[in-house]
Amino acid sequence: MPKTYQFDVLIIGSGAAGLMGAIQLSEDLSIALIAKDQLLEGSSYYAQGGISAVLDSADDFNSHIQDTIKTGFDLGNEQSIRFMVEQAPNAIKDLEKAGVEFSHQGKEYDLTTEGGHSAKRVAHVSDKTGQSVQTNLLAQVRQKSNITLFEHHTAIDLLMKDKQCFGAYVYDKKNDRVFSFISSKTIIATGGASKAYLYTSNPDTSTGDGIAMAYRAGCEIINMEFAQFHPTCLFHPHAKSFLISETLRGEGAKLTLPNGEPFMHKYDEREEMAPRDIVARAIDHEMKTHGFDCVYLDLSFKDSHWIVERFPTITKRCLALGVDICSERIPVVPAAHYTCGGVGADMNAQSNIDNLYAIGEVAHSGVHGANRMASNSLLECLVFAKTCAKHINKNERQIDDLPTFEDWDASRVEHSQEKVVVSHLWHEVRRLMWNFVGIVRSDRRLQSAQRRLAQIQKEVNDYYRLYILTEDLIELRNLVQTAQIIVESALSRKESRGLHFTLDYPEQLESAHNSVITKTS
Ligand code: FAD
Ligand code: SIN
Repeated sequence: MPKTYQFDVLIIGSGAAGLMGAIQLSEDLSIALIAKDQLLEGSSYYAQGGISAVLDSADDFNSHIQDTIKTGFDLGNEQSIRFMVEQAPNAIKDLEKAGVEFSHQGKEYDLTTEGGHSAKRVAHVSDKTGQSVQTNLLAQVRQKSNITLFEHHTAIDLLMKDKQCFGAYVYDKKNDRVFSFISSKTIIATGGASKAYLYTSNPDTSTGDGIAMAYRAGCEIINMEFAQFHPTCLFHPHAKSFLISETLRGEGAKLTLPNGEPFMHKYDEREEMAPRDIVARAIDHEMKTHGFDCVYLDLSFKDSHWIVERFPTITKRCLALGVDICSERIPVVPAAHYTCGGVGADMNAQSNIDNLYAIGEVAHSGVHGANRMASNSLLECLVFAKTCAKHINKNERQIDDLPTFEDWDASRVEHSQEKVVVSHLWHEVRRLMWNFVGIVRSDRRLQSAQRRLAQIQKEVNDYYRLYILTEDLIELRNLVQTAQIIVESALSRKESRGLHFTLDYPEQLESAHNSVITKTS
């Protein structure tokens, strides 16, 4: 078996961003698409709510742009937002071409709404939008002979020479070997970092790998303090990270305390339709003030046939866990959901390192600012995957001139007899982030987290040097690195804005600025 592969383009990640990028790349390019789990595993597959786009004659681009800017607390980049919003109807068409059948009412899209949107503009496939997007995009990718798929392959670190990127070292889990994937262009599409928190709506893949790899390679990492908490994840001992879509609130569901009292009117005049940061903080406040384990979401006043048809996935999953959403309230809690910051990327998805691109949740494309508006994320994946591919298609190929790299050297390490160290530190990081770097922050708690994370990183680095690589170790190393970046970004922001709320600086500063972290800073 070779130790080295060569491709024109290496795409790391097979979520909506990675798959759409692969589809849009020219068919005369050789492409490797790698994923650390099965190809469909990742946040994209679990997306429920939908994709925002101006598709109704009563809506307009300006309104989508202004809602996005306002929800992002004026930190978003207006040029990038305008581009994304104006491309949204085309993104929906691209998906329809791939076979996605959006829900309709008669001939019109069945558009719904979510927090922050001032119009109905969320197109969906009942409550399984992500599943439909992913299965259809993957089917398209599989038809292309220039794309080679590698599942259960985990990128470890980027291959760098003279400050340029030429691919990555990749761990093949099934064969327990490390390969060099050498490429002319590399696209990071690894998703977010919400697994840095103890409670999350995300699948296990969201460990911040792309952010940590890009940081180690010298990329600018922007606005990582803005960790988004989704207000409503199912609260149940056997429901690992199951989301209760915001579109339930879009369809009128009410949040209540255990005694049935509504409470959102105390926090925002938009009540249940306030943006996520406000709803999540309100729930957190009620839970902490009264010592409740959860609050409740009630849609049971709606017709049960309609509920089952509109929300088949949520109805089924809740029922399997003993909650009949047609007749009872759903116990919910906030959980880490989305990473608004990420690898700095321009309108072509280019990072500050030559040949290296970032698309999807891993990227900071400037469209979310201090708080992402619901259903703008899949949209961002699709739009910037396309501009990224266009940029690569236009640029000359250099596959014949690619540099060589040393094979991965595993000769100095041995099998660990102490894997408990990895699992212990993994849990410690996630609990620490939940307790000290969560919905409400303070300098004191952030500084404690920073001190402990620095010690943990040292322990992980020692372990990494001594023992043979495993996927858990790769992920732990990245999780700790990303957690440190989140804390450093949070400490650098001396204000409260959007998702970053700190007791020490409760006011928002007049001028908005990005926080930028690089390895040398
Ligand atoms: P992902 O879909 O997360 O894919 C990441 C890929 O990278 C995976 O293939 C993974 O295996 C791979 N990967 C990661 N690290 C490595 C590595 N080291 N080596 C190799 N491969 C790696 N957004 C919306 O707009 N609308 C919604 O309705 C919506 N609902 C959501 C519901 C849930 C439950 C969740 C969790 C998120 C939801 N979001 C929604 C957010 C949205 O789904 C994600 O932001 C988006 O899907 C991210 O896509 P992505 O392609 O960037 O990453
Ligand atoms: C949801 O369905 O609530 C998730 C939507 C999103 O994260 O954009």
